[in-house]
Amino acid sequence: MNLNIALLPGDGVGPEVLKQAVKCLQAVEETFNHNFTYKEALVGAIAIHKKGNPLPDATLKLCKEADAVLFGAIGDPKYDNDPNSKIRPEQGLLALRKELGLFANIRPVQIFPTLIDNSPLKKDIIAGTDFTIYRELTGGIYFGEKKLNDEGTVASDLCEYSEKEISRIAHLAFKAAKNRKNKLTLIDKANVLESSRLWRKVVAKIGESYPDVALDFLFVDNAAMQIILNPSQFDVILTENMFGDIISDEGSVIGGSIGLLASASVGSESAMFEPIHGSYPQAKGKDIANPIASILSAAMFLEHFKLFEEAMAVREAVGKSLKKGIVTPDLDASSKYGTNQVGDFIADNIVDSEDDININDENIDLGKSTII
Ligand code: IPM
Ligand code: MN
Repeated sequence: MNLNIALLPGDGVGPEVLKQAVKCLQAVEETFNHNFTYKEALVGAIAIHKKGNPLPDATLKLCKEADAVLFGAIGDPKYDNDPNSKIRPEQGLLALRKELGLFANIRPVQIFPTLIDNSPLKKDIIAGTDFTIYRELTGGIYFGEKKLNDEGTVASDLCEYSEKEISRIAHLAFKAAKNRKNKLTLIDKANVLESSRLWRKVVAKIGESYPDVALDFLFVDNAAMQIILNPSQFDVILTENMFGDIISDEGSVIGGSIGLLASASVGSESAMFEPIHGSYPQAKGKDIANPIASILSAAMFLEHFKLFEEAMAVREAVGKSLKKGIVTPDLDASSKYGTNQVGDFIADNIVDSEDDININDENIDLGKSTII
């Protein structure tokens, strides 16, 4: 298959982790005879620095023309610590989501059996966790009208949703539930918010056309508690933009590291794949960031194009790195492996799943991948 991929490395550890995902995709190309073309563009703080705009026109054009976008990370402490900053890196990501119409953000939360001891939560609580969050991505409080009075003393952000915005993602979530364990939980705050009451109404109505899917509703405060008390009760979670942002970071704790969670953002025309972790500026350039979330985002990219065998090869290679302890320090504080070495190991094992650990170890110690 020929695919054009736009690469947006962005800020912080984005470039380092994205490089590992590309290595793995090149291993997939080699092994399964595909032809992917990669073109890189600026986004985020680095784009502000170089072009004065977190989403330069050339970047947007490249993304619109590409079959898919692979994204690194965005954000810089310089802007986080300056509430008066008019221009922010995150605006680049938000504008990209809006411009590409990426209304559904899909975030799977699973336990890797070999990492069960990495979670701060007890084993018997997290065993069997396997749910997917469908987070609405182009509406709600993120995109509603923002106001600040002239004195700078009163501010507001509007949370607005239309029936259409709710129903298009609801259909995707119901379909996903049908292919999984037939359960859908809508997370909202319908006891307080009018917008949540609209979500409930619309989702309940759509639920009638998916009779096999058991639909339930949870208030977001209760949901925040349930996710760490009893995560295996969930199958597909559907929620609005802001609640989904918060709940998905919470979900990442279950697996032991936010460095493992991948995501896909899809719309009717475009798709983008990114790790859910942020730019992690403290780790930038230190070769310690976990590349697995980025590599698993590449697996989601492959699945999006129905390259299931290829995606499985990536997932199995990731599983092997976890099993063999070829992991970054977030998963094992005493680990001697860095971002690059973990990426090399996974890429090598996509090419040759029988690759022997010792042979790889030698190459890893030499800082060389056997394929690149
Ligand atoms: C995410 C991030 C973004 C969000 C930020 C960087 C704007 O936290 O993708 O979850 O809030 O959506
Ligand atoms: Mn977030």
